[in-house]
Amino acid sequence: MQLDPASLTPEATYRLLSGLVVPRPIAWISTLSPTGVVNLAPFSCFTFVSNKPPMLGVNIGRKAGRRKDTGAHIHHRGEFVVHIGDSSQLEAIHESSAEHPEDVSEAALLGLATVASDTIAVPRLAAAPVAMECRLSQVIPFGETGAEFVVGEITRFHLREGLMKDGKVETLALDPVCRIGGPNYATLGRIVTLRGMAQTAKSVLGSGQA
Ligand SMILES: Cc1cc2nc3c(=O)[nH]c(=O)nc-3n(C[C@H](O)[C@H](O)[C@H](O)COP(=O)(O)O)c2cc1C
Repeated sequence: MQLDPASLTPEATYRLLSGLVVPRPIAWISTLSPTGVVNLAPFSCFTFVSNKPPMLGVNIGRKAGRRKDTGAHIHHRGEFVVHIGDSSQLEAIHESSAEHPEDVSEAALLGLATVASDTIAVPRLAAAPVAMECRLSQVIPFGETGAEFVVGEITRFHLREGLMKDGKVETLALDPVCRIGGPNYATLGRIVTLRGMAQTAKSVLGSGQA
């Protein structure tokens, strides 16, 4: 089967890409409205883009041409928190994507407690196993729908006790969830371990981190 992108609507292309680019990790993002309401929503067009300094990127679309609350708040304050939720939080992650007016806090609505962050004004979720405080670095618009790739520099990592062992994240203990197409999710399946491959040091200074 062949498909010509030029013949596809933005909606059909979204369905296609979100079915093909799988599984996607989920950035569960809190932001603060101009009046101080904590907004929460999931975003699965998500990756990291730099390790020194550590930077995350997430693609935020629009609703009827208008910025989503998350995008608008990030533009306004230049701060956000990216959480990684675990499988016990899957329903809350999903429910936090429901559309609410800006003065309604999805975190409060879902009974999710927040705590103050260390480096930014935006609070983080108390129960998430991972929270990464971010300061806005760049906003890069793409395409014809007004989508923006938002890049933030991580200013603090918070990891639940027991998640790191010998400097590495215990993936099974993290128990992350991912998005497939539509309202479909997956948890970790079989983990396959192959031989380690020698890699040239990432830093030109030869700091040698693997
Ligand atoms: C698991 C999941 C992943 C999502 N990923 C994205 C995404 O990457 N980009 C996006 O613009 N919307 C994404 N959405 C939709 C937003 O979460 C949704 O539009 C939400 O209402 C935005 O909330 P806000 O207006 O409070 O920012 C996703 C929804 C779900 C359930």
